[in-house]
Amino acid sequence: MNKVAPSILSADFAFLANEIQAVEDAGADWLHIDVMDGHFVPNITIGPAVISKIRKHSSLFFDVHLMIDEPDRYVKDFVEAGADLITFHAETSSDYKSMITSIKSLGCKVGICLNPETSVDIIKEVIPLVDLVLIMSVHPGFGGQKFIVDVLSKIKEVRNIIDETGKQIYLEVDGGINNQTASKALNHGADVLVAGSYVFKHKNYTKAIQSLKK
Ligand code: DX5
Ligand code: ZN
Repeated sequence: MNKVAPSILSADFAFLANEIQAVEDAGADWLHIDVMDGHFVPNITIGPAVISKIRKHSSLFFDVHLMIDEPDRYVKDFVEAGADLITFHAETSSDYKSMITSIKSLGCKVGICLNPETSVDIIKEVIPLVDLVLIMSVHPGFGGQKFIVDVLSKIKEVRNIIDETGKQIYLEVDGGINNQTASKALNHGADVLVAGSYVFKHKNYTKAIQSLKK
């Protein structure tokens, strides 16, 4: 069965620990944590200080999505804060191999992410080295946007590459996921779905998460 990773971007930040507990109780598999710097994306969210605080209140797998320039400068801080997996954007670093090696050497899983316009070709060679490929199905920066249908072909393309490696590499899709778009992403080969507004704006988190599972 696919995994569902609620994104805390759409949670009520005044009650973050309660919100995280609520999605864990509702069947969340992972917790998706969006880190934005106001440079790579036009929005600012949270950093390692907040992650280390919520780490004390949750045993969920922390799936940290870095939407920041110069991610190499901050990797160690995020690992120490409690990240289980760190995903960086292919658009922010040209030396993928050294990013992958440095994250892995800190004992953390590593993911690589592509914006909707970015071609799979640029990461093809390093896919066998990562634990996860994240395909953005919206332009990163904000929750609540509409799923970009054009990325479905890219999901399929990455699925084929992953299958050829014969390795356990997750294929995660992020942005505009709801009970309609989830099945499209899953049918094209995704196995982890991020959902922010759909889960946190739903009056029943359990029903919301269940409706995103195949
Ligand atoms: C967007 C973030 C997403 C966001 C998804 O830049 O990476 O994780 O929280 O929000 P929804 O599910 O509302 O599109
Ligand atoms: Zn995200």
